[in-house]
Amino acid sequence: MLILGTLLLASSAAAMPVARSFSNTLSGILSGKNKLTFDSEGTFKVVSFSDMHMGERPGDGSWAAWGPANDAATQGVHGTVLDNEKPNYVVFNGDMMTGENVFKANATNYLDLVYAPTVARNIPFSSTHGNHDNANNINHQEEIEYEQSKYAALSYTRSDVGPKPYGSGNYCRWLLTRVPVYAKSSDWVPATIMWFFDSRSFVSGTGNGPGPVPDAANYYWVDPDTVPNYIKLQRLLMTLLWWKVPPALVFVHIPVQKAQILAPLPSPGDHDDEPDPSTQGFLNNTYTGLDLPFWDEIVALNGGKGNVLAITSGHDHGESWCARSTDSTGIPICFNGHSGYGGYVTTHSTVRNGRVFNLKLADLAKSTPTVETWNSYEDNTTADAVELGPEYMAQYN
Ligand SMILES: *[C@@H]1O[C@H](CO)[C@@H](O)[C@H](O)[C@H]1NC(C)=O
Ligand SMILES: *[C@@H]1O[C@H](CO)[C@@H](O)[C@H](O)[C@H]1NC(C)=O
Ligand SMILES: *[C@@H]1O[C@H](CO)[C@@H](O)[C@H](O)[C@H]1NC(C)=O
Repeated sequence: MLILGTLLLASSAAAMPVARSFSNTLSGILSGKNKLTFDSEGTFKVVSFSDMHMGERPGDGSWAAWGPANDAATQGVHGTVLDNEKPNYVVFNGDMMTGENVFKANATNYLDLVYAPTVARNIPFSSTHGNHDNANNINHQEEIEYEQSKYAALSYTRSDVGPKPYGSGNYCRWLLTRVPVYAKSSDWVPATIMWFFDSRSFVSGTGNGPGPVPDAANYYWVDPDTVPNYIKLQRLLMTLLWWKVPPALVFVHIPVQKAQILAPLPSPGDHDDEPDPSTQGFLNNTYTGLDLPFWDEIVALNGGKGNVLAITSGHDHGESWCARSTDSTGIPICFNGHSGYGGYVTTHSTVRNGRVFNLKLADLAKSTPTVETWNSYEDNTTADAVELGPEYMAQYN
């Protein structure tokens, strides 16, 4: 504790968010939550749902004609996948609602619709936020505050760093905040860590509305001023406390730019909707590397030894693959597919799904950790099962 205190006092302004979250921890803000553990068979299963797009309504915007019946259908998808997979944790990976369409007066109530099937099954969860969660009638900060206050018992969503109100959903789960996942409840060092990042982005789809995206930015990216230092510092603290950085699962709504290089590879899953070249780090239709400070810290987290099990995104509804090559420094990049009946639909995304990560202690203990993942569909089928690790797509590595 003395080392930690000295480190926090001695470090730069970048340390302040950590100091604050540490003091929150000490003052018990997240107390009362269950410490997450692997089950008696040594597994911890995560289901990630993307692109729910709740709250579309007639006469007001892009995909509005589909209406509230779609919200009920989306809940049906989540209920079926949760009953089939029985996960230990759920991650909502952005675009909870279509923020251009929801009513401003009750926009956050659409979160109730998103979380209902998970809450009904008493499954702990957390969220990242998407471009449609930053729109005329809602922003990320409003969603985070609503989730934290209304779902205090089950929600582990935090806001450790990032610009408010459009990019504040950056956090990771460790130490006394109790969202790391331990092999057993008496453990001090977690078996895995989940990281969540906020890729910000647009208002009304154009960048012309009130909000965070300058016209010259085609889309936007994880905040380069706060997030890279945050990751670096967390990594340092973990190393000091535990002598290691536990294997990581990383969630962010908009895919990293590196996803585009992997898209042409023959990875199992849908390729209807290959990531738009402009989705990350583009200014004036030119890639300027603005997402690289974030990516470089993900590479550092990977540690050159496969410590990042996967970085997974939504956003491109017709994408549901995982790929890995030297172009991504061997970091597996995945897409979640489409779990919502809101939002646009591509040829192969008509049967909705969630992505499953089946973490096993035995796989995490390998010299290069691995994780099983597959897509689980509303018609009770599964597909695209692979084990992410050094053997996966080895011919490209
Ligand atoms: C929000 O308010 C509108 C207008 O009163 C209503 O039609 C809609 O059902 C409400 N949505 C939710 C999720 O409560
Ligand atoms: C983007 O391009 C436009 C037109 O060429 C130019 O006026 C503007 O200054 C550029 N913006 C940035 C941020 O580079
Ligand atoms: C999926 O399984 C559930 C529960 O057994 C069943 O009610 C439902 O009809 C099944 N759906 C399909 C498309 O087979």
